[in-house]
Amino acid sequence: MLDRRRLLKLGGITAGSAVGGAVLLSTAHNPAAASGPAGHGGHTGYVPVAVTGAVPPASPFTRRMPVPRELTPKRTRSGVDTYRIPIQPADVELLAGHPTRVRTYGGRFTGPTIRARTGRPVRVTFTNQLDVASNVHLHGGHVPQDSDGNPMVVMAPGESRTYDYPNRQQGATLWYHDHAHGLESENVYFGLHGCYIVEDDAERGLGLPTGPYDVPIMLRDAQLDQNGGLVFPSTPSSRTTIMANGVVTPYFPVAARKYRFRLVNAAVERIFRLTLGGTELTQIASDGGLLPAPVRRSEIVLGSAERTEVVIDFSGHPIGTQLVLYDVSGPVLRFDVTHHAPDPSRVPALLRPLPALPAATVERDVSMKFDLSGSYPVGVVNGQAYDPNRVDFRITRGTTEIWRIRNDDGAIGVPHTFHMHLEQFRVLDRNGGPPTPDDAGRKDTVFVGPGETVRVQVTFTDYLGKYVFHCHYLDHSALGMMAQMEIVE
Ligand code: C2O
Ligand code: CU
Ligand code: CU
Repeated sequence: MLDRRRLLKLGGITAGSAVGGAVLLSTAHNPAAASGPAGHGGHTGYVPVAVTGAVPPASPFTRRMPVPRELTPKRTRSGVDTYRIPIQPADVELLAGHPTRVRTYGGRFTGPTIRARTGRPVRVTFTNQLDVASNVHLHGGHVPQDSDGNPMVVMAPGESRTYDYPNRQQGATLWYHDHAHGLESENVYFGLHGCYIVEDDAERGLGLPTGPYDVPIMLRDAQLDQNGGLVFPSTPSSRTTIMANGVVTPYFPVAARKYRFRLVNAAVERIFRLTLGGTELTQIASDGGLLPAPVRRSEIVLGSAERTEVVIDFSGHPIGTQLVLYDVSGPVLRFDVTHHAPDPSRVPALLRPLPALPAATVERDVSMKFDLSGSYPVGVVNGQAYDPNRVDFRITRGTTEIWRIRNDDGAIGVPHTFHMHLEQFRVLDRNGGPPTPDDAGRKDTVFVGPGETVRVQVTFTDYLGKYVFHCHYLDHSALGMMAQMEIVE
């Protein structure tokens, strides 16, 4: 039974997400979700489990994967690229021939891509044409407080809001998504997600694949009913339908040459374990941009909201070859080598050095878990549910800190992903040992499996104000697993 009083105390949680809470409870108590074998990717203790009895997905590889439309600025005035994006309902066919109502940026189930350049500001005005509240957060963005998409600063239906993104950060694959507190999980689930790519000159000089050979792939899962409608709330383990750029298990025609793929895990609550048959992937970047050097990977593990970039060279494969990208749960997408094309691109042996880490002067502990003592699960950080009126950490600008992040849900086997707004961090160690290959580079989100401890180091460089950090399993943040830091002078 739901305890409404407790729910309301969480601050802004709605009836819709109240049902989402029941969902969580069933996840927490799903022993299958807790007992997966430790994988060789380094994350331990959790493997997505396919559920029998779910609606069978459409036959795989029947539809082509679209590349999300790239926006051109509405106008460029004094060096600022200006965009307008409606947040609007739309009818899309997640199953061919079965239109269903979703929530979109600009009418597409995967929103349009914004391509920004380092040092060149972007201004986006969103108008909320939905009948629920919404706001927009640029995930991985280094932005002033007013444009961060604070969970409590939302657009009511009919309202607009303008966000300024200075892009004073290096090239990286970011994404934008809804963050209205208590609604973030269902709004993102119903389609409020899109890619935002920052490019810089140094990166462009490297000669990596560009243009049509630089392709964002937004991955997510869903539970579909027989009519192709999205089921929400749903248990994470029944979200057995995998989509790439909004299409269920598509194919994607490629030329026999190198491609750069920017993989974004936009699932509200999932970890992908990706392999390409026996073919190795060349990882070149993680959340915050390029790695120091390319890394050969046979498997990539991507928790909710993490990104990775890979180069795949199809030139060794004859025309007609089909290569399937698999998750541990089944196929995700098939690359069909269909034609030849010239390939002037290259993957240099050195990409971009990581800056030296300044010495840390502050250490903090962050415990993420569920409080199951009441009649209803509450997500807590250091024992407390999110309270927008409370500042959990007060941080002096310019300081470098080490945060020890613990998943204290080992007993119930629930994984979390930790995400910090505003700054990129670096993973120092995991469970006292070295970080995994998936922890490499500049990160803003890190997977923390049941019972795991991850230490990260971060420097708070310049912006002042209040920002959140939270579990990026959005069902969890909606239930309170979020806290607030304030950067002060
Ligand atoms: Cu991707 Cu606070 O979010
Ligand atoms: Cu974020
Ligand atoms: Cu969580």
